[in-house]
Amino acid sequence: MALSPGETAEGLSPTFLELLRAEPLKELTVLDVGTGTGPLALALGPLCHAIVGVDRDARAIAEARKRAAAAGLANVRFVVGDVEVEEYAPFKPEMVVAHLCVSDAIAERAGRVLRPGGVFAFVAFHTDQWKETGRPSRFAYGEAGVRRLLRRCGFAIEHLEVEREVATFESVEQALAAAVALREQWKADGRWFRYVKFLEEGGRTLTRARLVVKARKA
Ligand SMILES: C[S@@+](CC[C@H](N)C(=O)[O-])C[C@H]1O[C@@H](n2cnc3c(N)ncnc32)[C@H](O)[C@@H]1O
Repeated sequence: MALSPGETAEGLSPTFLELLRAEPLKELTVLDVGTGTGPLALALGPLCHAIVGVDRDARAIAEARKRAAAAGLANVRFVVGDVEVEEYAPFKPEMVVAHLCVSDAIAERAGRVLRPGGVFAFVAFHTDQWKETGRPSRFAYGEAGVRRLLRRCGFAIEHLEVEREVATFESVEQALAAAVALREQWKADGRWFRYVKFLEEGGRTLTRARLVVKARKA
C-alpha cells in the first residue's frame, strides 16, 4: 500500500517522530524494543545521547549493525534478546520506544524500568489493521485496551491517536496486487485465503490502522 503523507520510506509516522523529538533526546539513553533492522533506532541515533535496539531475530540485528556502521553512528548499538522475557534494567534506559512491537509484557517491563517522568512511546498495530483478513496481529490493541494496559503499568497517556488508511480498489486484481508483498507471509498464517474470500464476497478494501502513543511514567 502507498505511504501515508509524510511517512518515511521505512514506514515511520511523522507524528510519532515529532512526539519523540519533543523530548530532550540529547540527554537520554533510549531503548528500542523489537528493533528489527533498526529503522527507528537509526532515525533517533543522531538525535539522542545513546540508543540500544533489541530484537530476538539475530539476522535482523546483524543487518541493523551493518546499517549503523554504514551511517557512522557510534552511539547506536544492537543486541539480540527477548524483550518479553528479559528485564530492561541492564540497558539503563531513560526512555523506551517501540515500533510495531508492543505487548503486555513489553509495557510491564517499560513500566518497571522507567523512573517517574520517563517516556514510553510507541506505534502499535490497531485491531483494525488488515481487518479484511479476519485476524488481528498478536501485537494489536484497540484504544480502550491500550489505555487499560498503560494505566495498569503506571503511565499517564499524553498522546493517543489512531492513524488509519482505507485503500479502496476497483477490482479483485487491483486488491490482490496491493497485498502482493504480503502474500507469502499471509499464506503461511492463513490470512491470504481469508482476504481472497473477502474479495470474492464483494469486499474491495484494505485497512491500515496504527496507534501512535506517548505515555509518561507517573
Ligand atoms: C513488525 S516487526 C517491527 C520491526 C521494527 N521495529 C520496524 O519498525 O521495522 C516486529 C519485530 O519485533 C520482533 N520481536 C517480536 N517479539 C519479540 C520478542 N519477544 N523479543 C524481541 N523481539 C521481538 C520481531 O523479531 C520483529 O523484528
